[in-house]
Amino acid sequence: MAVTAPVQLDRKRIQELTEREEKRLNERTPKSAQMYRRAHDVLSGGVASSYQLRAPWPIYMEYGRGPEVWDVDGNRYFDFHNGFGSMVQGHAHPVIEQAVRDRYPLGTHFAAPTEDAVVVGEELARRFRLPKWRYTNSGSESTMDAIRIARGYTGRDTVLKIFGSYHGHHDAVMVSIGVEYDRIGDRENYPSLPYGAGIPKAVSDLTVPVPFNDAGAMERRIERLAAEGRKPACLIMEAALMNLGIVLPEPGYLEAVREITKRHGIVLIFDEVKTGLTIAAGGATERFGVQPDLVTLAKALGGGLPTGAIGGSEEVMSVVEDGSVYQVGTYNGNPLGMAAARASLLDVLTPEAYEHLDRLNERILAGCRAVVERHNLPGYAVGVGSKGCVTFSPEKIVDYETFKAHQDKELCQLAWLYNMNRGIFMTPGREEEWTLSITHTDESVDAYVACFEEMAADLTA
Ligand SMILES: Cc1ncc(COP(=O)(O)O)c(C=O)c1O
Repeated sequence: MAVTAPVQLDRKRIQELTEREEKRLNERTPKSAQMYRRAHDVLSGGVASSYQLRAPWPIYMEYGRGPEVWDVDGNRYFDFHNGFGSMVQGHAHPVIEQAVRDRYPLGTHFAAPTEDAVVVGEELARRFRLPKWRYTNSGSESTMDAIRIARGYTGRDTVLKIFGSYHGHHDAVMVSIGVEYDRIGDRENYPSLPYGAGIPKAVSDLTVPVPFNDAGAMERRIERLAAEGRKPACLIMEAALMNLGIVLPEPGYLEAVREITKRHGIVLIFDEVKTGLTIAAGGATERFGVQPDLVTLAKALGGGLPTGAIGGSEEVMSVVEDGSVYQVGTYNGNPLGMAAARASLLDVLTPEAYEHLDRLNERILAGCRAVVERHNLPGYAVGVGSKGCVTFSPEKIVDYETFKAHQDKELCQLAWLYNMNRGIFMTPGREEEWTLSITHTDESVDAYVACFEEMAADLTA
């Protein structure tokens, strides 16, 4: 990961290009504008989730096939958004389609376990080397239940999390994310800040943030909390941050976290909602070789159906098994989702599929690095497995503080507009990354690089 000595970019030029590209995108999407006006009458903000908002209107999608999606205006895109990283299998994969078709006429919901749930559990146990599994319907449900299991197991209330890291939309984890730079505060003693209205302070105060890539600061905080009688039940973290672009763990960091949490009897939860199944067969747990006590999955697990899972050691999951923690849900292990997950895990996300993703990601990362070098841009390309991004920053980003201090928000927005106007569907916002699917080819990743090259040339012309 080379950090180049960057050129000084002309901010006025960025502004001009942004205005030009915004106008172009608006002109290309009149039917989305129309749909927005209609949607606004019945959906708050015209969308199904606030993460789908965009001014002046969202781009409404119609269908997807393999690596491509089409919006309601008929614009075709290579999909690098992939449903926030859920569609690593590509859209409408024929193997998953068949599994869903086979399951539907047999009934899709009993609220009783089926064989597919067992098969999926066996495969997840093999991939993540964790023996006991339960299901949910989303990433938020997975992290919510994992935290409850850790609290039940330890009999403690406090939760440690990484400052700036996203783990879903329930109260325990909507804490200290999206914070402005001047409110981050002292890294030895980061504040617990609720994200948005409606989160009781009494609840957010139970969640204590610590910096990523700094095991020393984490241990000192644990010691202070223990001295106050607030020893944490768990640390919930992504082994590689996937919601600040991508921030990889520094060498030795995850091993130190494992050692410290074990020594203090704190349950280590790897939130693999994004990394699980997308950066290796066994997610970050396999890729980085550090074994957590619990993992949380969702997104890619269901191959496009809303399915999540929690995996854990015998010991920690014993509180579910003995009935002291209720891990429940009407749709948990839904047969349709389980049929899709089974087909995806056994017949789609094969060892060859992961080799393909690794090779393609190397190609797109190398292409992006060459563009950065050629134009001496302030940034670097970073990625792992199917995921990657160009981080627009003159400095290497290692945690939330460096992200907020150095990441170039305006360039992120411009890059998104360039992509959308040139047939590359990408996640909006500065925190996200691309996710390749197994149906992507050299052609699709080369299109991404060509678009980046065009923006770089325009910026430095
Ligand atoms: C790391 C991580 N955990 C949890 C979640 C929450 O998942 P969901 O949106 O399915 O509730 C997300 C969603 O982006 C995530 O990125």
